[in-house]
Amino acid sequence: MKTLEKHWLNEAFKSEVPNGFQGKVGWQSPSNIALVKYWGKRGKQLPQNPSISFTLSECCTETFVQYKKAKSFGFQFFFEGQESPTFGAKIEKFLLDNQAFFPFINQLHLTVESHNTFPHSSGIASSASSMSAFIMCLMEIERSLSLSKGRPVDLDLQKVSYFSRLASGSAARSVFPKMALWGATEAYEGSSDEYAVPLENDIHPVFKTYRDSIMIVSGEKKSVSSRAGHGLMEGNPYAPARYAQANENIKNLLTALKSGDLDTFMSITESEALQLHALMMCSNPSFILMKPNTLHIIEEVRNFRNETHIPLCFTLDAGPNVHLLYPDNEAAAVEKFIKSELVTYCDQGRWIADHVGDCPKLLM
Ligand code: PMV
Repeated sequence: MKTLEKHWLNEAFKSEVPNGFQGKVGWQSPSNIALVKYWGKRGKQLPQNPSISFTLSECCTETFVQYKKAKSFGFQFFFEGQESPTFGAKIEKFLLDNQAFFPFINQLHLTVESHNTFPHSSGIASSASSMSAFIMCLMEIERSLSLSKGRPVDLDLQKVSYFSRLASGSAARSVFPKMALWGATEAYEGSSDEYAVPLENDIHPVFKTYRDSIMIVSGEKKSVSSRAGHGLMEGNPYAPARYAQANENIKNLLTALKSGDLDTFMSITESEALQLHALMMCSNPSFILMKPNTLHIIEEVRNFRNETHIPLCFTLDAGPNVHLLYPDNEAAAVEKFIKSELVTYCDQGRWIADHVGDCPKLLM
């Protein structure tokens, strides 16, 4: 067993939960958008290659957990006001798989209420924000228990990132402000496959206020889940080349992020987005998550950049929506372009104006 796991097992709250122990905690946690993509996993939710993301600001999940001492583990999950056993099942499985680290859950009834701050059915993945928000709540409950025994403990963000990763890989990166790196790379000391590390102090100021305008091409549920997509990388003949290329991109992107080299940033970011979708197209079975309007937007963005020399680039998540990335000082010109040329390709003209943001926030 790894040293960190041993340490967390040792320090787990194993005492009897005090009689009358009950309360409610709430955390808001942001979504993130990867620049170098995590696509392909191994072992216990470990990435095949390192990834780097922007932490977002407007696209968040707010999660409240009501806890009460009980004879055995009890769990209920509400999403946007409705009881949702399907969404809850993932969290319940996480808790049961990891009960050695959180043995106190066997003496608690948990009622979880979660909602997203971005519009429902906008096709924006919420597993990163929702899982990290839940883990923050779990850590808060553990902290209250320790405090009840007179043992105050600090919130350990490495631990939050580690367990967020186990709940949903990309959630490991949502824990840190501005930007995060998840996955071991020689290019960054202290990086790890087990948890993300903050990059805030290693990036040029231009990236700290970067904009991400999300063009909602389709709000429909994806036809292939990320989990299935990661699984299909196992038989993908291009997988070894992909992992080598991602490592190279991490190295070069880290340098560009530090110096503020926007040309390299844009070239790596767009190549990563297209590679992600190319990998889907050459999986067996193959699948396509882009829509015709995704390509229209990409084409328009490239034309706009060529004509105006404004450093606007795009990235894609595992879906058809297009994330437009650009420096804050270009916001007026880009928003004018979005409204005049791009909204026509968006589902009901919908887009979300987001920007680089901060880490999870305590709500109560
Ligand atoms: O965290 P998951 O299992 O939902 O996978 C995320 C995969 C991508 O969003 C496509 C890329 C990434 O690094 O976030």
